[in-house]
Amino acid sequence: MLDSNLFHYTGSSLSCDEVMLEELAGTFGTPLFVTSRRSLLESYKTFEDAFDALPHFTCYSVKANYNLSVINTFAELGCGCDVNSGGELYRALQAGVPPERIIFAGVGKKPEEIAYALESGVLMLKAESLSELKAIDRIAGEHGKKASVAIRINPNVTAETHPYITTGDSKEKFGIDEAELPEVFALLRQLKHITLIGLDMHIGSQIFDPEYYVAATIKLLSIFNASKTMGFAVEFLDIGGGFPVTYDPLKPATPIQHFAEKLIPMLQPAGVTIILEPGRYLVANASVLLTRILYKKRNHTGKEFFVVDAGMTELIRPALYQSHHEVQAVTRHENTIIADVVGPICESSDFFARHRSIDAAEEGELLAVMSSGAYAAVMSSNYNGRLRPAEVMVNGSEVTLVRKRETYEQLVQNELFLSERGCDPPGVI
Ligand code: LLP
Repeated sequence: MLDSNLFHYTGSSLSCDEVMLEELAGTFGTPLFVTSRRSLLESYKTFEDAFDALPHFTCYSVKANYNLSVINTFAELGCGCDVNSGGELYRALQAGVPPERIIFAGVGKKPEEIAYALESGVLMLKAESLSELKAIDRIAGEHGKKASVAIRINPNVTAETHPYITTGDSKEKFGIDEAELPEVFALLRQLKHITLIGLDMHIGSQIFDPEYYVAATIKLLSIFNASKTMGFAVEFLDIGGGFPVTYDPLKPATPIQHFAEKLIPMLQPAGVTIILEPGRYLVANASVLLTRILYKKRNHTGKEFFVVDAGMTELIRPALYQSHHEVQAVTRHENTIIADVVGPICESSDFFARHRSIDAAEEGELLAVMSSGAYAAVMSSNYNGRLRPAEVMVNGSEVTLVRKRETYEQLVQNELFLSERGCDPPGVI
């Protein structure tokens, strides 16, 4: 089953590590994200082993799953973090990641986010435009700091993946074009509150073919060599994340070792520390979204539906990227039916699976939407007045609630009536 065997059937019942999912649903309710801590540790180890020969620093890209306990699991192993906003920086710090192991990315950082990063003492900020470089320099000056900065290059390599998650192409907003670099280096010589310490790229996500990394790395290395000739002492080359995982067993991901085998010999001679920013690779297959079947229905064409209590508000990937997630019955059945697995949201795009062979489970039984560890809970929303689900982490036979289910009170806690802002109460003119 997929990349991790930590979700497996014990008899006819699906378990996470040593705990039955049925039990977890009984205790914590559904929808529920269930994460296997051992699976997180396994993926991290496989990743680290693959790149072992390379002097490198892995920064987990917390946008994939920013639960504090997930971040902390990696931080305890010495892993750093890649953050993309003040909020993610806050989370990483709260999770116990030392600031000198945090790198701050993002194409549109606000001045207060830049100031927050500088005051926190992050390892580096990554700049994505000339204007941003000037802003970082100004803000660092105002705060009496010298900012350590990496330049994000747009290598103009179009990696084959879903168009919404390719980022290394010149038509995208990300990074600085090669053509602009002479101007960037000239500017860097003038800016007094910035030290250039890194060159960075990130070409996209869920990239199966290592050759895209090879093409982009060739560009990064040539820019690195040019920077050395110009007298810049770059200490870090950051090749981003994007390493693939298996969602569909029929389309297995390229093993991480294939990427390492190609990239290590290219990057080692540079003699600097290589930063790697895996997100999905470390977390995607460590979690499932557990959901209960509310209703089964069949329309006049004979089409069958499982209407479940989770929806696109908890896992938007099928709706947004047409992505495949395996759906497994928590209790195995001998027979299967062809059905759509749909949620309760009032959108036709609210589905987990279409025309899929699913065990013929009954109303009230549980389904597990697999590979829900990356870009699932973090992309959840309150649309339709939905409560963000609880999250638990399983370690062997131990279960920890790592996020409480939201409450109705939390749904409205930040809202004010007009009258409380000093306006007339509703209905009064
Ligand atoms: N570094 C940077 C600068 C990034 O923008 C990203 C992801 C990563 C690292 C981590 O990429 P990963 O290793 O996870 O592929 N919501 C989409 C994925 C968006 C990825 C955004 N950037 C999805 O569900 O597929």
